[in-house]
Amino acid sequence: MKKIFAMLLTGTMMLTMAGCSKPASAPAPAEPAKAAEAKPAEAAKPADKKLVVGFAQIGAESEWRTACTNSIKGEAEARGIDLKFSDAQQKQENQIKAIRSFIAQKVDVIGISPVVESGWETVFKEAKDAGIPVVLVDRNADVPEDLYVTRIGSDFTDEGKKAAEEMAQLLGGKGNIVELQGTVGSAAATDRLNGFKSVIEAKYPDIKIIKSQTGDFTRAKGKEVMEAFLKSDGKNIQGLYAHNDDMAIGAIQAIEEYGLNPGTDIKIVSVDAVKGAFEAMIAGKLNVTVECNPLLGPQFYDVCEQIMKNESVPKYIPSEEGVYRQETAAADLPSRQY
Ligand code: AHR
Repeated sequence: MKKIFAMLLTGTMMLTMAGCSKPASAPAPAEPAKAAEAKPAEAAKPADKKLVVGFAQIGAESEWRTACTNSIKGEAEARGIDLKFSDAQQKQENQIKAIRSFIAQKVDVIGISPVVESGWETVFKEAKDAGIPVVLVDRNADVPEDLYVTRIGSDFTDEGKKAAEEMAQLLGGKGNIVELQGTVGSAAATDRLNGFKSVIEAKYPDIKIIKSQTGDFTRAKGKEVMEAFLKSDGKNIQGLYAHNDDMAIGAIQAIEEYGLNPGTDIKIVSVDAVKGAFEAMIAGKLNVTVECNPLLGPQFYDVCEQIMKNESVPKYIPSEEGVYRQETAAADLPSRQY
């Protein structure tokens, strides 16, 4: 197994150096690249052996996360994969414990959606030493590239940029915005914040981000923080940018309780495109949601199977995502899968 992992990482690094990996801004899902060199037949896992995969999930903090978990579990069942699933309840130490337990159980591949970016190097090295490949699903981890095979998921910076353009349109290029950030230290929050800010600062000098605070990606905290924003800035707020739909939905409740109309008095742009966001848009309370695709199960197990066949994969596999607006929400909702 150590041999497989070492060869796979070498192949992946070679492809990356040769320019075969997709840039972070690539728009469409990438096809896995074949290994440049032929691999010995004995390196691959026998076809009749059941694939054993460990998955260290963050928790169940949002509608998005539940859809992601369902996709990981459902696809494992459909493919007859033995899945060992762990819910870390949004705690990094629980995810680290889960990885160590997967190593002890000698799983074939470990999948993880890291709750925050930093603090993974030691445990990822332990997996590497045990010859177990690590695949990042959804969020990024700040580790050297040789410690994971690939990341499958969204370009969060691009989501932030798209949200900024939508907000600027809604405000006619002028107004005060408050921001509800996701979990502090998570790739999704950091990149969505930076992407949004970069567009506003570069192109829209009359738009100001007057308050920015974490709501930890949950409805309850989104509501709580929005209440505080309204208390301090009230009618001075023209726009709300929320890093996910759940926080926006919590904030909508706070805005209504304060006596303003969400979607009209305060324009709202959020990220995810879960069904709850479409319902809010149909009710006229949310203006735009930028899609972040949680249905990552099929891409994840495709990668696991490629690893087992000793094929190389690109260092980044992006998801394909769109932008959904209030005007078309009723027509869009029936075809939404999550
Ligand atoms: O990492 C993806 C983010 O995590 C989603 O936008 C959010 O809803 C989730 O909790």
